[in-house]
Amino acid sequence: MYPSKKSRLDMSPFLVMEVLEKAQELEKQGHRIIHLEVGEPDFETPECIKEAAVKALKDGHTGYTHSLGLLELREAICKYYHDRYCVSISPEQVVITSGSSPAMFLAFASFLKDDDSVLMTDPCYACYPNFIKFLGCNIVRIPVYEENGFQLLREDIYKELIDSIRLIIINSPANPTGMMLDKTGLESITKTGIFIASDEIYHGLEYNEPAHSILEFTKDAFVFNGFSKLFAMTGWRLGYLIAPKKYIRTIQKLQQNFFISANSISQYAGIAALEHASMDVENMKKAYNKRRKYIIKRLRELGFGIFKDPDSAFYVFANAKKFSNDSLAFAFDILKNAHVAVTPGIDFGSNSEGYIRFSYASSLENIEEGMVKLEHYIEKVL
Ligand SMILES: Cc1ncc(COP(=O)(O)O)c(C=O)c1O
Repeated sequence: MYPSKKSRLDMSPFLVMEVLEKAQELEKQGHRIIHLEVGEPDFETPECIKEAAVKALKDGHTGYTHSLGLLELREAICKYYHDRYCVSISPEQVVITSGSSPAMFLAFASFLKDDDSVLMTDPCYACYPNFIKFLGCNIVRIPVYEENGFQLLREDIYKELIDSIRLIIINSPANPTGMMLDKTGLESITKTGIFIASDEIYHGLEYNEPAHSILEFTKDAFVFNGFSKLFAMTGWRLGYLIAPKKYIRTIQKLQQNFFISANSISQYAGIAALEHASMDVENMKKAYNKRRKYIIKRLRELGFGIFKDPDSAFYVFANAKKFSNDSLAFAFDILKNAHVAVTPGIDFGSNSEGYIRFSYASSLENIEEGMVKLEHYIEKVL
């Protein structure tokens, strides 16, 4: 466990974007780059979702919506959570946002006071610490290890910590590890009694056991979710926050002032996604799973350490300490010499140094080509 000092604007750059920008420079010079760095589905948004958006546009749904979002979409989200997790939530608890990122901002801003302490794992999604810093709060990070599937264990959250922490952020399935907390692990964290913010953005992308929502174990939680990953809708900017009713009025006022409402067309598209896109999702999942099995096998053959098979999202967080202990320099070297773009572990916390995140949100053909390039690089350059 290690706490870190706050400073609102002391934000680290999002290193994956720096790798991407360098990769784009190389592409402009005529090089072919295999992109295994970005966490963005390579699929197009399913047709039924696009059609709903076109219809909304033609029907003239081009104005602001209610600040909480379209009632029909909020009802569809309640039904989705009920069908999937057997939990009962009401539309008054749901706020539609422009992606799950604003949902995080609204939830954290409504809940946290200056100087509160917020617990998160290392590694974790690179933006969490920056949200917390920006709000003038303290970050407490618990290192998690590959031997435990990078999972936060109940015993890591000891008594003194429980007393000093206002909020825990969990993310299962997780970025960058592609691993999930099992039912017992998830439930045991709720037993600490600390308020939980659960980022469920990768839910639905599980290849063995289905993920559980935090709402199955406690009602005292924020849930962030959205359409970017499961429905291949990153550019549509559509997400949502589920919150206990007592926080909704404050959240609504923040939304009205800062964002007014989420995009109207995207909201109509979101209803179609939840109601009609399940077959499209199944097909994308099948493709991800095939790539997952392939990339795990190939990375192990190349000498990367993968202690447990990642079973969700579209990431493999591979131990590269055998090759380098400087993941940033290593990622840039791979890009320069192998023309494969990957994300350095250090993007996700200091305990993540020595790891490289590979995203398999890229076609099987691209991944195959990337692995060959990486193989040559390891044989000839390293
Ligand atoms: C864990 C996690 N949460 C949230 C987001 C943000 O997603 P969006 O704002 O597109 O919903 C991402 C994006 O990569 C992510 O990996």
